[in-house]
Amino acid sequence: MNELEYLTAKRSVDDRSLDRTVLTAFRDTVQARTEGNLRILEFGTGTGTMPLRLIEWDMLPDSVEYRAIERQTSHVERARKRIPEQLAGMGYTVEELDSADGRFHAIRGSQRIRFSIEKEDAFNVTGEPDVIIACAFLDLVSLRNVLSHISDLLTPGGLLYAPITFDGFTGFSPTHPYDDIVTDNYHRHMAQRAGGPQSGRQLLELVPEYGGDIVAVGGSDWIIRPVDGTYPAEEQAVIAFLVSTIHNAVSELPLTQEQKKNLDEWVERREQQIADESLTLIAHNLDILCQF
Ligand SMILES: C[S@@+](CC[C@H](N)C(=O)[O-])C[C@H]1O[C@@H](n2cnc3c(N)ncnc32)[C@H](O)[C@@H]1O
Repeated sequence: MNELEYLTAKRSVDDRSLDRTVLTAFRDTVQARTEGNLRILEFGTGTGTMPLRLIEWDMLPDSVEYRAIERQTSHVERARKRIPEQLAGMGYTVEELDSADGRFHAIRGSQRIRFSIEKEDAFNVTGEPDVIIACAFLDLVSLRNVLSHISDLLTPGGLLYAPITFDGFTGFSPTHPYDDIVTDNYHRHMAQRAGGPQSGRQLLELVPEYGGDIVAVGGSDWIIRPVDGTYPAEEQAVIAFLVSTIHNAVSELPLTQEQKKNLDEWVERREQQIADESLTLIAHNLDILCQF
């Protein structure tokens, strides 16, 4: 499975994990804005799962402008195909304005959503959104840079909804003697890039510095486990992708021969348990809703 397939396959994991209190606070706040068009900007939309989920779960008001920003061409292409197709399947009439540019309207009953799926770097985007959504994104970028950008973009009183922001714990069941060393190294690798393993709690600390108030916070831990001996939906491939991501990340660190041998032994055991459908993975994330 590649990242493109992984992003679509992980939907069932995220659907289960999203904190419902934070999601309800998001819905109540956006639906209370009855005046005019709600302008949503999403950073790092991937293959477009978040807008589909918000529409399917009836989280959005009647008049919405939804700009989905993604920098990877393959993901943008998939989102441009997948979002209108799935909305049509949900009974929306899709009016294509510019298929090459990812612009279309989705209309059902009194609701009209004006989509624009843009291939762009989130840091280059301009505009004046009422809401910024960043799902599983803020742990990949510099928090200070992104918060400064967000507070510049958002209209006064605008919202940031940042679900599935990684917050420092990865664990497995059954345990293995090398778990701690492997996950410590995995988090050490994350710390070498922008964002990092403690992005969730750092976000709580930094938002007020950039003029935001925390409205709601909840845990959105991923728990991927076999149910009655079988992984649900495509979660066997998701957990395999995550173990391989950990393997690749830790392999990039300078390791001794002994550490390499231990890592290989750990990966082999975990792959066997995934094949046997007996491994559980737990990753701790936070969902955060802020007002600027
Ligand atoms: C972990 S994925 C999450 C995707 C999606 N939000 C979801 O939860 O399914 C992060 C996404 O952000 C995109 N991304 C990372 N940095 C970006 C940037 N600076 N501008 C736009 N997209 C970016 C990646 O290409 C990837 O698709």
